[in-house]
Amino acid sequence: MNAVIEAIIGRRSVRAYRPDPVPASNLEEIVKAGLYAPSARNAQAWHISVIRDGEKIASLGAELKAAIIRCGVERYLSLARSPDYRMGFGAPVFMIVSADPGVSVCPEQDSALVLGNMFLAAHSLGVASCWVNQLCPVADDPAFRWRLDSLGVPASHKVYGAAAFGYAVDPRPAAAPRREGTVSWIG
Ligand SMILES: Cc1cc2nc3c(=O)[nH]c(=O)nc-3n(C[C@H](O)[C@H](O)[C@H](O)COP(=O)(O)O)c2cc1C
Repeated sequence: MNAVIEAIIGRRSVRAYRPDPVPASNLEEIVKAGLYAPSARNAQAWHISVIRDGEKIASLGAELKAAIIRCGVERYLSLARSPDYRMGFGAPVFMIVSADPGVSVCPEQDSALVLGNMFLAAHSLGVASCWVNQLCPVADDPAFRWRLDSLGVPASHKVYGAAAFGYAVDPRPAAAPRREGTVSWIG
């Protein structure tokens, strides 16, 4: 198995992080990998906000909880009400990926590929990651949106994903078994 395929199979979502910072050079490589994702019609209509200030991550997390409750986002209500909920799992880096739906014909897919590339690049550098989806359903709530504006999310963009990056507390967990019957080999 070559190194790329090994990285794809070895990457796991991590939900407990040490506070140690990720070197800037690593973050630059991770972001570069994101920016080289394919995009529909090569629109590259995305934006990545990289937040490294722990206080900014914590206030974003507190405002996110309030927004989920205010907007009544059913699927995340119990999470937001839990005193244990930490948006970024204590990771030192939090990234928000947005895209302009007026420019890309597939902004959601483009953004997912940016995140996927960044997860793999991070993994190859020993940096763990986890997608954090809770921002997506509340990102257009005016009482929350101002915060995203302050973090560089362009006004014409929608948020399609976010993620925590940092060093895992625990060794990598094993992958869940793959579901059966998800591939048809024809011919
Ligand atoms: C679109 C998407 C949304 C996700 N949202 C969350 C999330 O909000 N919180 C979380 O802890 N993990 C989230 N995940 C991570 C998945 O739970 C994880 O990828 C899955 O359980 C498989 O585990 P693995 O990444 O370790 O292979 C998300 C993944 C995707 C692709």
